Amino acid sequence: MRVAIISDIHSNVEALKAVLDEIEQDNISIIVNLGDLVGYNANPKECVELVQERKIISILGNHDRAATELKYAEGFNILAYQALVWSAKTLTNGHKEFLNSLQHTKVLWDRYLLFHGVPENPDGYIFYFFQAKKVFNYMRKKTPGVRVAFFGHTHHRAVWQRDVRGKVSKVEISGDHLLLDAEQMYLINPGSVGQPRQKQWKASYLVFTNDPETIHFRSVAYDVNSAQNKIREAHLPEYLAERLESGL
Ligand SMILES: [Fe+2]
Repeated sequence: MRVAIISDIHSNVEALKAVLDEIEQDNISIIVNLGDLVGYNANPKECVELVQERKIISILGNHDRAATELKYAEGFNILAYQALVWSAKTLTNGHKEFLNSLQHTKVLWDRYLLFHGVPENPDGYIFYFFQAKKVFNYMRKKTPGVRVAFFGHTHHRAVWQRDVRGKVSKVEISGDHLLLDAEQMYLINPGSVGQPRQKQWKASYLVFTNDPETIHFRSVAYDVNSAQNKIREAHLPEYLAERLESGL
């Protein structure tokens, strides 16, 4: 089985379409979206509709939640907040109902945990060792039998592992693929489709194969100028257009 894992689309329909075009040619059975369909960029409606049309399995992101209830955007930085208020005005009630229906977590095939930030909270981060350790502990308690989880939110590709002794470490991603060890637990982030932040502008996602368990990181070029022009036409903050090009 081949599963495409995408995350943090953030209303960037150019990036989403480029990723979906590549996925279509790749014998993929299922597409999973780890949240933050909206926010930052200028095509929230189009991204929600594409995800609905393609029946992409989706998880609730912190921006999705804030678009349906603005009080959740109060902790956002000012640029994210301004874009979120604009998104909330642009989306119809139908789009918001869809976002509101999304769950914080899902378990795929009883084996793979999906969430946005951390399992209990789409605003939580896994950036540091102690945060990864906490989520591994959560999995051991709440989802026994699940060794592998996929998450988003940081917009950074990442793989954390926990070995049989309980030692947690960050895996150096050197190539574009990684074979998972059946004895270890993993937390895996595919990076962001619509606002990558790893100093490269291409849309990032991954393909997961379950037999043997392997992840393949992918980067896809898209029409970044078109996405930038739409941000400017919508009078969203200029930095949101600039950062797309530099991957910040
Ligand atoms: Fe995000």
